[in-house]
Amino acid sequence: MKKQITIAIDGFSACGKSTLAKALAAKLGYSFIDSGAMYRGAALFFYRLGYVSDKHLNEEAIQKSMQDLKLRFKISGSKNCLFLGDENIDNEIREAHVAGIVSKVATIKAIRIQLVKQQQEMGANGAIVMDGRDIGSVVFPNAELKLFLTANPEIRAQRRFAELQGKGIPQSMEDVKSNLTQRDHVDSTREESPLIQVEDAIVLDNSELSKSEQLQWVLELVNKRRESV
Ligand code: DC
Repeated sequence: MKKQITIAIDGFSACGKSTLAKALAAKLGYSFIDSGAMYRGAALFFYRLGYVSDKHLNEEAIQKSMQDLKLRFKISGSKNCLFLGDENIDNEIREAHVAGIVSKVATIKAIRIQLVKQQQEMGANGAIVMDGRDIGSVVFPNAELKLFLTANPEIRAQRRFAELQGKGIPQSMEDVKSNLTQRDHVDSTREESPLIQVEDAIVLDNSELSKSEQLQWVLELVNKRRESV
């Protein structure tokens, strides 16, 4: 039997990380975890409590109520969805009020410590594909395969715009572009676990690749890696 490995996928916003990670996990029979969804879930929770908005951030109040943040993935219908307590928040976390504050929330050390711990527990047995910003650097530094995804900013904005339209979430192209630029900046320059390309990551620029071409490319890498570990 081929060895089951851990696959870490990092990169900028809207590079198609989750789409690739999900397809890869389905093909390999591995679990798939979208770690960005967890930061979005945390952002929504604290937004509802009134501790964060586009204008303010109450870090002290957030730290004090960290233990009340209960996020988990659960199958709903045929989809693996993010739940906050008993509420399915999978759609709301994609909306503009969350996209506008999530990077700010993700800079908070206490949140990162709690979510990273949860992510490491989910991946403790390997056979997992996780995507995010710090997966290869912090969550699974020993992952057998690390990918760093990039794509042309214009193409990324078009993809995110189409995705939101498909979900019936209204947002102008201008807003999508400025949100991506702002998030990339905050994510790469923050003090806590910034988005970096680790030395042992393989870079994939998918600007000109279809979903199936990318999947094929990565599957070949996975197969080589599984033979060599
Ligand atoms: O992958 P995404 O766009 O849904 O992620 C939402 C935000 O969460 C992103 O702007 C940065 C943050 N994030 C992070 O800091 N670390 C991760 N592992 C995943 C996401």
